[in-house]
Amino acid sequence: MVADDGDGMTSNAVNEALRFGSRRDYEEGELGRYGLGLKTASLSQCRSLTVVSRRKGGARTTVRQIDLDLIANLDQWVVADPGRTPAVVRARQRIAEGMNTVVVWDYLDRVLPEDMDGGWARRRLDATATKTMEHLSMVFHRYLAGATPAAKIDIIVNGQKLEPWDPFATSEPETTELATQTFELQLGDTTGIVRLRRFILPSRDRFSSVTEFEAKSGPLKWNRQQGLYIYRADRLVQWGGWGGVRAIDEHTKLARASIDFGTVLDPLFNINVAKMRVSLPTQLRQMLERPVHELCSQAGSFYRGPKTEAPSQPKEARRSVELSAGNAQASASAGLALRSAALQSGDFDALKRIAVVLRDQVPELAAHLGLDSL
Ligand SMILES: Nc1ncnc2c1ncn2[C@@H]1O[C@H](COP(=O)(O)OP(=O)(O)OP(=O)(O)O)[C@@H](O)[C@H]1O
Ligand SMILES: [Mg+2]
Repeated sequence: MVADDGDGMTSNAVNEALRFGSRRDYEEGELGRYGLGLKTASLSQCRSLTVVSRRKGGARTTVRQIDLDLIANLDQWVVADPGRTPAVVRARQRIAEGMNTVVVWDYLDRVLPEDMDGGWARRRLDATATKTMEHLSMVFHRYLAGATPAAKIDIIVNGQKLEPWDPFATSEPETTELATQTFELQLGDTTGIVRLRRFILPSRDRFSSVTEFEAKSGPLKWNRQQGLYIYRADRLVQWGGWGGVRAIDEHTKLARASIDFGTVLDPLFNINVAKMRVSLPTQLRQMLERPVHELCSQAGSFYRGPKTEAPSQPKEARRSVELSAGNAQASASAGLALRSAALQSGDFDALKRIAVVLRDQVPELAAHLGLDSL
């Protein structure tokens, strides 16, 4: 059962909601788009879908069901009120407690293999619930944290309130953020803004705790969680990997970047019904190349920093290596700021000439500043 205390639906709206390709106007920033999600998501998991809803503040509750077995038996598409089944009684109970819509799934034929017995089935179901919680904590982390212009929402799974999972570990003191970039994309007469924020997360020894480091590893673990986190109207729709801009690499596993686009740009990003996949528009992929490579080259030097410390070194020596790793980070940031300033002031060629002189006279500093590859 999935229950919510949102706006709820009138009886007409419930009937419309159960049509495939239901139609209505969407406001900018609404998560829905195709009029398919409720039905396709449900019937991919279960054979019977029941919606019990009342318009917020309203007195009348509507119950409608799509039951695939009934439809097969009658050989006719029917959407009907199933009467007071045990599931409907429980759903009505939730409405009485203040919920406005309850979606009930019965006969979950895809969730467990058929021949599973009680104990196994219970454990499998529990594991699925845990995975679901991790997924929701990640995909809706901005909504859970109240970090969106939309209202903050709580998601409670089997009585447990979800905590947001922030891919960028922004509350870690050692997380580094590079300058935000914005891009304008053209779609017919409309211009949409895409925003890129780039982060380098701390390495294991720089995290506030090992537990926190492990938690930030994410469902796919550090290496595969590096890359772009693409948000549509603040909902995460794709994560991990660099979207064709570059390959994932162990050395850049601490680099993660967010890309934000609004629903006006849906056609450019080819958002799918499940809101789980997009393709990066070619014009954007080109614009991302430089800032992404910049991020990765800096993340690579952060990664290599602490690596130079051999475990067998005495304590004193180790401390000095750590200090220089800190300096290397600061220098790399300074170098990046220089590049970015030179780009903005239109003096990038001048910076290149300066880099040539510096490489000749103080090669080590040029390397620290990342100007050796200019
Ligand atoms: N929990 C709910 N509370 C209120 N209205 C709902 C709820 N679930 C669905 N609806 C209504 O039913 C309509 C159809 O939902 P459905 O998920 O099938 O499509 P959608 O959200 O419009 O688009 P998409 O296919 O992109 O998900 C929604 O547009 C909304 O008006
Ligand atoms: Mg939907």
